[in-house]
Amino acid sequence: MSQEAILQARDLKRFYRVRRAAFGPKAVLKALNGATFDLVNGRTLAVVGESGCGKSTLARLVTMIETPTDGTLRICGNDIVGSSRATRRSLKSKVQIVFQDPYGSLNPRQKIGHALEEPLLVNTTMSKQERRRSAKEMMDFVGLRPEQYDRYPHMFSGGQRQRIAIARALMLRPEILVLDEPVSALDVSIQAQILNLLTDLQEQLNLAYLFISHDLSVVKHIADEVMVMYLGVPIEMGSRQAIFEQPHHPYTEALLSATPMADPFRVKKRIVLHGELPSPIDPPPGCSFNPRCPRATDICRQDFPEMRQVGKTMVACYHPLD
Ligand SMILES: Nc1ncnc2c1ncn2[C@@H]1O[C@H](COP(=O)(O)OP(=O)(O)OP(=O)(O)O)[C@@H](O)[C@H]1O
Ligand SMILES: [Mg+2]
Repeated sequence: MSQEAILQARDLKRFYRVRRAAFGPKAVLKALNGATFDLVNGRTLAVVGESGCGKSTLARLVTMIETPTDGTLRICGNDIVGSSRATRRSLKSKVQIVFQDPYGSLNPRQKIGHALEEPLLVNTTMSKQERRRSAKEMMDFVGLRPEQYDRYPHMFSGGQRQRIAIARALMLRPEILVLDEPVSALDVSIQAQILNLLTDLQEQLNLAYLFISHDLSVVKHIADEVMVMYLGVPIEMGSRQAIFEQPHHPYTEALLSATPMADPFRVKKRIVLHGELPSPIDPPPGCSFNPRCPRATDICRQDFPEMRQVGKTMVACYHPLD
């Protein structure tokens, strides 16, 4: 069953002008350098990769906190570049974000009920009573008790605070939820509860998730599709099963080998990558992974490989694994 994508990103880019040193000349940092993917209702695309590979930059583009330097982004059939302010405003309410640290996103002096009502106050004409009722219903929906309405954020545990952040993100009935490391700050036992909550909410509300995580054991739990990024560029994409069972990019293989999985039949040797992640200001020519890649040859140092189908995944590599 193929379904129309609710979000389509094509060769999406975001560059920043930065100084390498105080008073030095400005350089271009390519935080995101060409991402192409679709999000579909009711499904989860997980974005994985090392720190600094551009995951949060992608999240800021998709949530329209920042505008792309280049490429196209279509949400609910509307091109966000070139659409009217009114359209962009209505699209913004369709895409909401949940961050890693719910403390940072909740005002410590604001009661939880008011934090949940705020998006309704700003974006709708609902009366005070309607907003209050809606907030209490949402609290119940995400597993909080409505009598906790008058409490402040510090009175909740980390897991409960993440429930509040999720509830707040859902108040405007979005269709897309961007989750930027939503469980990375939580204890493992609490992580599972929040992931289960997200799975239930997705089923009930038919939400599309863009799920950002550096933790592959979490991704294995929740993803339908996986996109692996390296230095601002997706280098492998495929279904969760294909990526975890038979990755074709040497970088994906190395990432997987470094993740402890609860699978006794998978006794694989850990692949240690040598060298640092290069700077996105000065990426190496050719494939940006070549300085760390055990398979690199001359061609890898010259041109960036195009994405192509290998086995069951799409991969940007001249020498993919079989
Ligand atoms: N506003 C900005 N100005 C300049 N450089 C930026 C800006 N935002 C991000 N960057 C740079 O862009 C690159 C990608 O950053 P980003 O935050 O998207 O990475 P990330 O994959 O989310 O990393 P992490 O896993 O650590 O959260 C990094 O090199 C970062 O320093
Ligand atoms: Mg980030």
